[in-house]
Amino acid sequence: MAELNQAQLLELVNTKQIAAGNPRARALTQRIVTDLFKTIDEMDVTPDEFWKAMDWLSRLGQSGQVGLITAGLGFDRLIDIRMDEADQKAGRAAGTPRAIEGPLFVAGAPTTQWETRVDEGEPKGEIFVMEGQVLDTDGQPVANAMMDVWHANEVGGYSHFFPGMKPYELRRRIETDAQGHYRFRSFLPPGYGIPPNSPTSELFEALGRHGKRPAHIHFLVVAPGLRTLTTQINIPGDTYIDDDFAFATRDGLIVELEKNVAPTGYESLGITAPFTRSRFNFVMQKALNEDETSPAARMARVTAQA
Ligand code: BEZ
Ligand code: FE
Repeated sequence: MAELNQAQLLELVNTKQIAAGNPRARALTQRIVTDLFKTIDEMDVTPDEFWKAMDWLSRLGQSGQVGLITAGLGFDRLIDIRMDEADQKAGRAAGTPRAIEGPLFVAGAPTTQWETRVDEGEPKGEIFVMEGQVLDTDGQPVANAMMDVWHANEVGGYSHFFPGMKPYELRRRIETDAQGHYRFRSFLPPGYGIPPNSPTSELFEALGRHGKRPAHIHFLVVAPGLRTLTTQINIPGDTYIDDDFAFATRDGLIVELEKNVAPTGYESLGITAPFTRSRFNFVMQKALNEDETSPAARMARVTAQA
């Protein structure tokens, strides 16, 4: 093969073709390769730096932590910001703000009607009840909406990802009643921290950054004819509330906590003493097409398309 300079090599890499391939995949790959060639040249990346980065990427893939890196480098929030901007342009910025799904959702949690104990009857931490309605943007209750709820355990771990936890621990699905009501009991979870001694922590240490998320609870709400809502609520008072490593907290999602609520009316949740409550309504937009009502979380959506 002929001798090549950098520009000639880049041109070859970007134009080689024996079949149509996927034009979008070709265009994106060309752009990314071009940007990386430029980065390597302008930043004078050494061979050892390059191969160290490739070793890190291989170990990252094996560890299943790619979703931690996408969040920590701002890509998950970027995708939300771009969807918010598109909504604003289209005049449909309404309802509960979206917030990143994160990489820790697991489909298939046990389902109950109207109310449940997310904490499976094992009291831990401060007893917390969250309740409210699912509404559409006209203020109409949404009956039979399906709401996935998931949160971290008392040390910040998520079931299916953190050793020693039971399947679907701290994960439940609630189907709203005829008036769109839901309620659940759990405990106020602490924040999340990236796993130590992992490919993710290696990068964050190298960047001089922490890998902490403030205390939060995740929701994925689905209902016929409405746009699937992926969001989180934040628990006020957390040290990291304005310094989330995943950039995911939003003003409209920091709930108010009512302390010392009388237990009357909450006996079915096993509550007999004053507890902490938050009332929060989830407001869903009308879907413009069937795709927007997809019940699938982010990875299930794309793997189903493959
Ligand atoms: C979380 O929601 O817990 C999370 C989000 C992004 C990265 C890691 C964890
Ligand atoms: Fe989380």
